[in-house]
Amino acid sequence: MPKQLDSSNIPKHIAIIMDGNGRWARAKGQDRLYGHSSGVDSVRETLKAAVEFGVKHLTLYAFSAENWGRPQQEIDGLMELLVASIHGELPALNERGVRFSTIGDVSRLPSACIDSLTDAVNSTAKNDKINLILALNYSSREEIVSATKKIVQRVLDGSLALDDINLQEFQQALYTANIPDPELVIRTSGEHRVSNFLLWQLAYAELHFTPVFWPEFRREHLVEAIYDYQRRERRFGKTSEQVILEK
Ligand code: IPE
Ligand code: IPE
Ligand code: MG
Repeated sequence: MPKQLDSSNIPKHIAIIMDGNGRWARAKGQDRLYGHSSGVDSVRETLKAAVEFGVKHLTLYAFSAENWGRPQQEIDGLMELLVASIHGELPALNERGVRFSTIGDVSRLPSACIDSLTDAVNSTAKNDKINLILALNYSSREEIVSATKKIVQRVLDGSLALDDINLQEFQQALYTANIPDPELVIRTSGEHRVSNFLLWQLAYAELHFTPVFWPEFRREHLVEAIYDYQRRERRFGKTSEQVILEK
């Protein structure tokens, strides 16, 4: 554990908006796909550090529903990179005890992607060191609409009473059912927005923004983000005096 971090206050769930691959590549005179493939190294290093620090869930925003609007060549490259990365990283995921899953509507991805995702989910299902959750074709607004549909269906079926719809039931209808809300959300590349990511789940998350482009994100940047998190006073609506007394 890095000495500046308090091991008793590590976020259980960290979510990252991995941004800046394209700008990083362009600045190096390379094409955007070079940025994406370099970003895979950052994923590997970040995951390794997260396991080391005792993080239990790591959610990575890899492809948004809005990203389908990009040039087809970039989309194709990203999908190929996904398949190749899963194939290449799977043995290491199993060695490190990583349990892999996804959020988002993966059914709309190319079939080669669905196959390798299914393979990774199945082959890592018994691992329990950390949950690696990849957000793919993810839209938080879609997630909320889809949760609403599931709830309404249960009401129509008669398996849920209108008066029993509550936060708990709703949370269980999201893609992230059984995953605790992230305490810390990191966005790289200097952009200060959430871009349709985990809108429900980040209600009380601490947000950390760093100018570092994703392909350059390393262990030290994760340490920096957790250090920043540990300096926040999380009040959940209470006063600072109350929070101090409760400690
Ligand atoms: C993040 O990097 C990766 C994806 C969204 C797939 P970008 O590709 O958005 O890189 P910039 O923001 O254009 O630099
Ligand atoms: C958000 O990044 C999506 C991912 C990191 C996968 P974008 O680069 O797509 O977000 P905007 O369009 O700049 O908000
Ligand atoms: Mg971007």
